[in-house]
Amino acid sequence: MPPNRIMLDVLKGKAHFPPPLWMMRQAGRYLPEYRETRRRAGSFLDLCYDPDLAVEVTLQPIERFGFDASILFSDILVVPHALGRDVRFEEGRGPLLTPITAPEIAALESKLFHVNLEPVYETVRRLRAKLPDETTLIGFCGAPWTVATYMIAGHGTPDQAPARLFAYREPAAFQRLLKVLADHSAAYLIRQIEAGADVVQIFDSWSGVLDGACFEQFCVQPVAVIVRQIRAVHPDVPIIGFPKGAGARYQTYRQKTGVTGLGIDWTVPLEAAKDLQRLGAVQGNLDPLRLVAGGKALSDGVEAILEALGEGPLIFNLGHGITPETPIAHVEAMVRQVRSATR
Ligand code: CP3
Repeated sequence: MPPNRIMLDVLKGKAHFPPPLWMMRQAGRYLPEYRETRRRAGSFLDLCYDPDLAVEVTLQPIERFGFDASILFSDILVVPHALGRDVRFEEGRGPLLTPITAPEIAALESKLFHVNLEPVYETVRRLRAKLPDETTLIGFCGAPWTVATYMIAGHGTPDQAPARLFAYREPAAFQRLLKVLADHSAAYLIRQIEAGADVVQIFDSWSGVLDGACFEQFCVQPVAVIVRQIRAVHPDVPIIGFPKGAGARYQTYRQKTGVTGLGIDWTVPLEAAKDLQRLGAVQGNLDPLRLVAGGKALSDGVEAILEALGEGPLIFNLGHGITPETPIAHVEAMVRQVRSATR
């Protein structure tokens, strides 16, 4: 008998009520047990590449809250790191990379790509063996555009001006970078699926800063390439796309990329989300700050989502990652409210 993972059912387009539930960045600094493991690990990348510790932190939110899905603990920037780029994480500063130049893009090397990422595949194998049968295991990568923004700027920026300028000034090098990232991300996700991931999610956190033409070329097209490459090998594995900030472009993103499920951020109005749901599952979209605030702000937000989207295929989630200052009691209240909802 195939296991009963309700999130997979929802991704096939079936409605479940109450809906399955998990949180983006569910393993992270808001949890004292995460901070403890993180201290033992040394650097953040050491944590990502140590299967014992990565499994431990992946399971922490499952043990505490019993979510329906578990997301592999890693980071989107292991892909440039595995391609030989210098990547560091500094306390309070986020990721720091050596900004890539056009000649370096032409010379990007990938001989050791899968060797470098073997600890991630090992983490996925161990997770599938350890997780409860009914828990869906999600693998992930960053979308080429979002990963490229960090590779070009070398750090997070508010509007990705360095990457946008680079794309306009060096279109050939930029297209090659997107192509290298799309091909390697597809290969990376295929290996995660073969190691035991039931679903994969593609995070495009920075798709909202692009104009119409660039959104099509930098977000839609590379993700469509990834989807095609995965489907050629694993046609039945659901793929969730999360083009954060895509606004009015969510519908065409789903149609043109062919993703199975659509992650929606909290700025998507619930009526628009209901329209998106007609073409397949949606995942989201509680404002993470409602979870920080708690109380009525939280319960109203949860109720509105359940009411607007509960009759269709919905995966309840936040509209972006949980923030470190979120009180655990608020997460518990959200889980209780979703789990005890009746129609
Ligand atoms: O969701 C999960 O629990 C799985 C793990 C996960 C992490 N990063 C762990 C992490 C996932 C899915 C990501 C994705 C990721 N990483 C994205 C896309 C989603 C998003 O949030 O927009 C992006 C843009 C990154 C790049 C990144 N990694 C940034 C900008 C930062 C610094 C910001 C911060 O919160 O510190 C990271 C570091 C990071 N990745 C942390 C965690 C738990 C915190 C680092 C620490 O513990 O010191």
